[in-house]
Amino acid sequence: MAFNDLFLRACRREPVEMTPVWMMRQAGRFLKTYRDLREKADFLTMCKTPELAAEATLLPVNELNVDAAILFSDILIPVEAMGMALDFTPAPVFAEPIRNGKQIEALRIPDPEESVPFVMEAIRILRRELTGRVPLIGFSGAPFTLASYMVEGGGSKNYIPFKSLIYQEPELYARLMDKITETVIRYLNAQIAAGAQAVQIFDTWGGILTPEDFETYDLPYTVKVIRGLKRKGVPVIHYVGTGSALLGRIKNSGADVIGIDWRIGIDEARRILGPDLAVQGNFDPTALFAPIPEIQRRVREILDKAGDAPGHIFNLGHGILPATPEAHARALVDAVHNYSRKKNA
Ligand code: CP3
Repeated sequence: MAFNDLFLRACRREPVEMTPVWMMRQAGRFLKTYRDLREKADFLTMCKTPELAAEATLLPVNELNVDAAILFSDILIPVEAMGMALDFTPAPVFAEPIRNGKQIEALRIPDPEESVPFVMEAIRILRRELTGRVPLIGFSGAPFTLASYMVEGGGSKNYIPFKSLIYQEPELYARLMDKITETVIRYLNAQIAAGAQAVQIFDTWGGILTPEDFETYDLPYTVKVIRGLKRKGVPVIHYVGTGSALLGRIKNSGADVIGIDWRIGIDEARRILGPDLAVQGNFDPTALFAPIPEIQRRVREILDKAGDAPGHIFNLGHGILPATPEAHARALVDAVHNYSRKKNA
């Protein structure tokens, strides 16, 4: 079978005969075959066993006909390697969150090949297994989103400890962010060297900031990450959760593709981002709980709004939810392919 490079061509804003589609968090969560695999091992063990991580990565490619694979891992894996004990319950928990300068000084900037060799090994296995199939996406959390977990100790509603650090002790915050930024640069470069064919930076929590604070406390670190990548033609996707009010700033990050959530029309997002950037999105993940004809209608709506200019990768506006009916996810992928193929005929 010929290698399906629709995704890579769309990232480069080259013409495609059909819009490529994949789904954030497609590896794991909603597939029955994933839950069966998880019976055998806990989540961290799966992440750290290259053969199991590779197997989980391939499930959605085999079962859903998506146009890209994303590595099965988690954004917090390199943070554990910085020296923070990590548990998943299944939500991530750091037992000893960062609360002072001494803890920040103690953090390591790990060498990825030494500290998380299983990630690079999984990538190497996957590149062999995906030969002639679809491209492999590597990823990292953005420094800001990683810092939020490190300071809060897990997920959060109002981010009081994290925002207190930012607003009360900006120098300490900067010291923490510098260490995370350097870690992320090395981590993504190691993934690219191992064979990742695109990388996505997940800034899931960037949208908790005012636009001015986003520009001061978040964006410069992602920009530094992107500048630090030995890209060699590997496209960079920058996704900011709840980021639609920030697109005018995000467009200057240096990424090739901007991921957008569903809180803005994709036509308006493209107007703000301009002709030099590709877009990825932006189906509301909860609309996968609608009847299939309604899913198909919404797919057509997004494809129509995305317009005829090249550079659209169809995706959800955030991760697919664990309870999503598999048939509905499959219907979404088929609808994207069928309708966009007709439009381009
Ligand atoms: O896209 C993919 O499918 C690749 C694998 C992947 C996982 N996590 C696997 C996972 C990716 C890209 C991530 C990124 C991630 N992890 C983000 C950013 C993406 C986003 O959704 O905004 C965040 C915020 C995390 C942190 C995290 N990890 C949380 C909040 C949780 C709790 C449970 C959940 O699924 O939301 C996890 C655990 C996790 N990461 C699971 C998987 C498959 C579930 C673990 C299990 O099987 O029990």
